[in-house]
Amino acid sequence: MGGHDHNMQAPRRIRQLASDAINRIAAGEVVERPSSAVKELVENALDAGARRIDVTIAAGGKTLIRVADDGHGIVADELPLALCRHATSKLDGDDLVAIRFLGFRGEALAALAAVARLTLVSRAAGAAEAAAIEAGPGRIGSVRPAARARGTVVEIRDLFHATPARLKFLRSDRAEGQAVADMLRRLAMTAPATAFSLTDASDPARPRRLLDLEAETGDLFPALSRRLRALLGPAFASAALRVEAGREGHRLHGFATLPTHSRGAALDQYLFVNGRVVRDRLLSGALRAAYGDLLPRDRHPAACLFLVVEPALVDVNVHPAKAEVRFRDPGLVRNLVVTGLRQALGAGGHHMPAAPASPGSLRAFRRPVAPAAIDAARAAQAPAGLGEEAQPFLALPAQEAGIRGDGAPHPPADLPPPPEEAGDRPLGTARLQLFDTYILAQTPAGIVLVDQHAAHERLVYERLKATRARGGRQPGQILLIPDIVELDPPACAALLAERDMFASLGLVFEPFGGSALCLRESPAILGPVDGRALLADLADALLAEQESPLESRIDAILSRMACHGSVRAGRRLAQAEMDALLREMEAEPASLTCNHGRPTALHLARSDIERLFGRR
Ligand SMILES: Nc1ncnc2c1ncn2[C@@H]1O[C@H](COP(=O)(O)OP(=O)(O)OP(=O)(O)O)[C@@H](O)[C@H]1O
Ligand SMILES: [Mg+2]
Repeated sequence: MGGHDHNMQAPRRIRQLASDAINRIAAGEVVERPSSAVKELVENALDAGARRIDVTIAAGGKTLIRVADDGHGIVADELPLALCRHATSKLDGDDLVAIRFLGFRGEALAALAAVARLTLVSRAAGAAEAAAIEAGPGRIGSVRPAARARGTVVEIRDLFHATPARLKFLRSDRAEGQAVADMLRRLAMTAPATAFSLTDASDPARPRRLLDLEAETGDLFPALSRRLRALLGPAFASAALRVEAGREGHRLHGFATLPTHSRGAALDQYLFVNGRVVRDRLLSGALRAAYGDLLPRDRHPAACLFLVVEPALVDVNVHPAKAEVRFRDPGLVRNLVVTGLRQALGAGGHHMPAAPASPGSLRAFRRPVAPAAIDAARAAQAPAGLGEEAQPFLALPAQEAGIRGDGAPHPPADLPPPPEEAGDRPLGTARLQLFDTYILAQTPAGIVLVDQHAAHERLVYERLKATRARGGRQPGQILLIPDIVELDPPACAALLAERDMFASLGLVFEPFGGSALCLRESPAILGPVDGRALLADLADALLAEQESPLESRIDAILSRMACHGSVRAGRRLAQAEMDALLREMEAEPASLTCNHGRPTALHLARSDIERLFGRR
């Protein structure tokens, strides 16, 4: 909002609103609990252009809330007016459309004075001294001189002490204190250039600092990202993608996390409209929708998103605590959020989560391997060479992998290095395969571990989807000997009913008497498949999704099909196959998360490795 540029300027005059405007202001309870009082006071401080806001509470805010700021202050002889209902300095005329500040009703201080003992001390910018005023339910005191270098302090004591019925609705000190902290964190996201602190002074002898945020400098995004790192931690920061989009009087910016950083509940979701803290179903629904198939149903992304809307296109005057807004064009807003996030998620493909290294796991790494263990391993080792199961598997179409498609065994794993070093690619050069399941690759910056099956499954899924979206056909691979697959009658009927759709996916079959099918072609993208397992699985998916709309039925089919791709865990891959998989992953950023929202690639920085060995 427009507050910051007013810092150090003389305060605007406070005046009484005309009754016409008063009648248009959303009526109802302004202050319900300590956190709503803190919200009103901090918003006033932000409107006054504060660069530092210090909040102190006791007993969860029930006995004390103090908010001190260094903003432009209030002129001494306007202090009584500031405490009157419907008196504000923030509206030009009586126009409720052109709202440029967080406040506009002129009600918050009056509402607080009506339910608590309130002391207001302020020194207006340019004034020679400060002044104070006290108020409480049904009374406003007189203005007296006071000491304060600059800005305003509002102190609220014994909230609701005169209205025991409302006091009863408050929760424990702890819960109310947490709600205050949560509200202040949200407010702090809206103003990275302002320093914030929260102190619990329940025990005056031992005040506790709950929050301490320094003022961030610099441009919007870097400042916001540092503020979010301070509030939400480095894990959020390293998984956060920058979001920026705009359309017809609406702009969206902020950060949202990669699907791999999802949470079990919609906890870290912070949404703002024109700098206001809001809880908006439309926005949270759009956030959910944007991640759609990137996350399983019970996982939630973390995000901090700011929507800036031309004042005429959003109504902020619909809720007494201003927690809700109404958009002129909700469809456009939803669309903007979904496409803005989708773009960010697409562009952020090479942003990999670091291997989560808890202090415990780092300690485990540091444990040196005992010489005795090495001797034992050496003694047990079979003569060098690959076993029977080492038959490499042709995972990717042969041309792409650059290897022979005649099924001849590939050379064993000690291949010469690939002709073209891919060291500067984000996923680096494949060095070896571990447990026939993971690819270990080296990049200039460190090492990357890839879960081969999960990554390949995602790749196949994305390609199937893309081809479908283009209205194209998946190439099928003709089976030399058609596969006769016996199924139970409902499964057989379900598959036959969708025969054309399957044909467009490269899966061609026909009835073969009774409840058997004759499989003639399988999707080339999957590589060699177990026809029976594939058909049975697809029939299950069809039967399970019978009631769903067509699109989600098709999604379920594509996802089930992708699962049958030939790069399974336990397949040994040749060097060229591993590198081909890495290159394809780079070309398809969505592949860095599997279809179930887990990561498919982990990165360990060289510097971390060096730290593990105590080299740094
Ligand atoms: N911390 C502050 N610094 C400077 N002026 C303040 C401060 N707090 C309140 N004021 C002045 O007192 C007036 C009344 O504040 P109050 O919060 O009651 O109403 P408002 O902010 O105008 O509207 P709203 O009820 O929507 O919050 C404000 O318009 C502003 O001029
Ligand atoms: Mg206000």
